[in-house]
Amino acid sequence: MNKLGIYIHWPYCISKCPYCDFNSHKIKDYDQNEWLIAYKNQIKYFKEYLTFHNFENIKLTSIFFGGGTPSLMHPKLVEQILSFINKLFEFEKNIEITLESNPTNLEFNKISDFKLAGVNRISLGVQGLNDTDLKYLGRLHDTSETFKILDLMQKKIDNISVDLIYALSCQKLETWNNELEAFLKKFSIKHLSAYQLVIEKGTKFYDLFKKGELKTVSDSLYEQFYFSTKNILKENEFDQYEISNFSKPNFFSKHNTIYWKSDNWVGIGPGAISRIWNNKKERIEFQNFKKPETWLKNSLSKNIIFKKTLKINPDAAEKEILMMGLRLNEGVDLKKLQHVTFLYNDEIIELQKQDIINVKKNNLRINENYFNVHDYVVRKIIDNHVSS
Ligand SMILES: C[S@@+](CC[C@H](N)C(=O)[O-])C[C@H]1O[C@@H](n2cnc3c(N)ncnc32)[C@H](O)[C@@H]1O
Ligand code: SF4
Repeated sequence: MNKLGIYIHWPYCISKCPYCDFNSHKIKDYDQNEWLIAYKNQIKYFKEYLTFHNFENIKLTSIFFGGGTPSLMHPKLVEQILSFINKLFEFEKNIEITLESNPTNLEFNKISDFKLAGVNRISLGVQGLNDTDLKYLGRLHDTSETFKILDLMQKKIDNISVDLIYALSCQKLETWNNELEAFLKKFSIKHLSAYQLVIEKGTKFYDLFKKGELKTVSDSLYEQFYFSTKNILKENEFDQYEISNFSKPNFFSKHNTIYWKSDNWVGIGPGAISRIWNNKKERIEFQNFKKPETWLKNSLSKNIIFKKTLKINPDAAEKEILMMGLRLNEGVDLKKLQHVTFLYNDEIIELQKQDIINVKKNNLRINENYFNVHDYVVRKIIDNHVSS
């Protein structure tokens, strides 16, 4: 059996947040029918590609509507996309179908229709736990609306994941700790992604930072934020199964785990990437055009044009298996690395002595207490001079 995930990108939002470098744009008028045709063409293209390359008994384990803000999509469009996928692919019994949503009334009014369409998991962009933080992040919702909507949504849908951004220069560590604890007591969240604010190139925050008009927290405060967040989540019975992702037992994100394990997925929509291991064990990548209008134009006819398709160099593909896999608490299965030529064994032994990493049988993992130095570990053990 071949397991597969499908990612569907919706590129529009009500407004562009100042920290965000995702492929997202202020919403404008769009022709729903054209978008449906383009999405369907791409889904069909990949079904034919997989059949042509002898992928047999494919079972879909997850579908993820990401963005942008896919909760702005018309539920009918989501329903039509899902029923088309269902016609072409077999769904695994417990398939996870996630839709990213903003925590506002507008989305709550659509939740029953999304559920009827097949969505069974919501990833809710709560982002901040007080109004000062939300304002700092340029979000349009406030906490009272967010908490009301979260409460109502939990009554409709069991599997809700919450996204939070922390370590903001306007935040006090103690206030954040208290707010996070109170939040976890108030709601029975199943999954939480806690991201430290990153100043990404090309964003409004980046420009302000360069001009000295936006402060970031010091490295040591960053670390304190990280460890207290991790500890509070642990005390509230969340497993830290990935650097920034915490879940109650069995509520880990099936879809994102595909990325961390470098498994097969198909990405549909503007800027979406697909990565597939073909039957020669080569990693094939498809890149979609990023600009929504360009993507739409090139996907409207059955003769789809991608921005680029390529065979990833075997070393680069294996480096990715290692880098992504080390983000997971369970670590990487070293049997997946077949041609490895880029590992520094002396560094691995040294990091093992320092208890930063563990190597057991065919598994390599970063000790949970050192997740915050993932980048350092990767830099130490990978020889980046080897061609990639
Ligand atoms: C595609 S966005 C989520 C979509 C949804 N529109 C929203 O904003 O809630 C995925 C998540 O990445 C996180 N994120 C985006 N930019 C970030 C940044 N610069 N630093 C930290 N986290 C960021 C946010 O928590 C966000 O929810
Ligand atoms: S953070 Fe979410 S809502 Fe804000 S611009 Fe990015 S994708 Fe859109």
